[in-house]
Amino acid sequence: MGLKKLSAALALSVSLFAAGAARATDIEVTHWWTSGGEAAAVAEFAKAVDASGDHWVDGAIAGSGDVARPIIISRILGGNPMGATQLNPGHDADELIKAGLMTDLTEIATAGKWNDILRPKTQLAGCTVDGKIYCVPVNLHSAQWMWTNRKVFTDAGIEPPKSIADLIADAPKLKEKGIQPLALAQGWAVRLLVNDLIIAFAGVDNYVKVMKDRDAALAAGPEFTKVFQQIGDARSLVDTKAITKQWNEAVGLVISGKAGANIMGDWAGGEFQVAKMVAGKDYDCLPGLGLAPALDTGGDVFFFPLNKDPAVHAAQLKMAQTLLTPEVQVAFNLKKGSLPMRPDVDLSAANDCMKKGLEILDHSKVTLPSDRQMLDGDSLTQIGDLLTDFFSKPDMKPADVQAKFAEIIKNAPKM
Ligand code: GAL
Repeated sequence: MGLKKLSAALALSVSLFAAGAARATDIEVTHWWTSGGEAAAVAEFAKAVDASGDHWVDGAIAGSGDVARPIIISRILGGNPMGATQLNPGHDADELIKAGLMTDLTEIATAGKWNDILRPKTQLAGCTVDGKIYCVPVNLHSAQWMWTNRKVFTDAGIEPPKSIADLIADAPKLKEKGIQPLALAQGWAVRLLVNDLIIAFAGVDNYVKVMKDRDAALAAGPEFTKVFQQIGDARSLVDTKAITKQWNEAVGLVISGKAGANIMGDWAGGEFQVAKMVAGKDYDCLPGLGLAPALDTGGDVFFFPLNKDPAVHAAQLKMAQTLLTPEVQVAFNLKKGSLPMRPDVDLSAANDCMKKGLEILDHSKVTLPSDRQMLDGDSLTQIGDLLTDFFSKPDMKPADVQAKFAEIIKNAPKM
């Protein structure tokens, strides 16, 4: 090779290297997906970001949303932002958007026709402030599910339950065998359980009237007295000394056959899948606890805190688009137990639970806002603490809890 050719080749390889290096931007991503199923799902996102030419730096925060949320928010407020972060649809990022700390995604959202493609519309609407889009919804997760291990019931000589009412009826037989009918985790998981019981026993409309419209009179009134009585009865399904710290430990008790059922969001499905159990064969997922099939429009969204480095900014925009590509939506949501945000994807590998969820979302359309979309974080924490108390102290009276619950609803700020 002549000198001229050699230097031309060198120049080319240097510029290719530079272009390559410019493309492989590190992007630190915070999230609270640390259970087995969650880790398997988020690995699909990491793989896709890496395959797009950038580098996913994993910033997992153990201990679920209640632990991660304040850490994430204070890092951004404190001037130490990550490249991208998971949060929930609702009001998690209100303050950060107001302070101008989040990247405006409107241009790529418009170019990618997110508004036409993504459903339900509530999710993108929740990312929109003053006409500008600040987050990308990646899935729809609902909380209204009861999970049962079939073998636990058949071993006890009973049919696997079709609803929470069946579980209540079956409970004595399970207890005789030393099996906890309903496994439970503390904190927000108790709130989730009670929300689901209210929906099952009082109906979606009454639940929304209380949580969204702040109908404190309904919450304090005779209809809810009945509901709280039933919640008190459901408390006897739980072994109060066996309340777990983390939600996935409670799901684990069902998987290992130490408990018959758990009430948890559809992300629990990821745990059963990691345990190689088959929906509709080894375990069942019953939307609306088998009584009132409905799903809320909770889920996960990604925000991209403002970054002055143009390479990071470009990587952020690319990541937002990558998370919504059909292949990534399928790979992630199949493992996560959630529903994809776009209907135009290949779901031939959907399991029984995903099919049930899609049926509700796309056909029966009984959807409701998630509690995070209706109430502020503070009130939600207060409700979680109150209910954890109720479930861990069997002598606490349903009527007392009802009164305190109604008081929190009455005092919750309008959103
Ligand atoms: C929710 C989140 C889900 C899920 C769950 C438990 O807030 O939306 O993706 O993983 O927490 O960690």
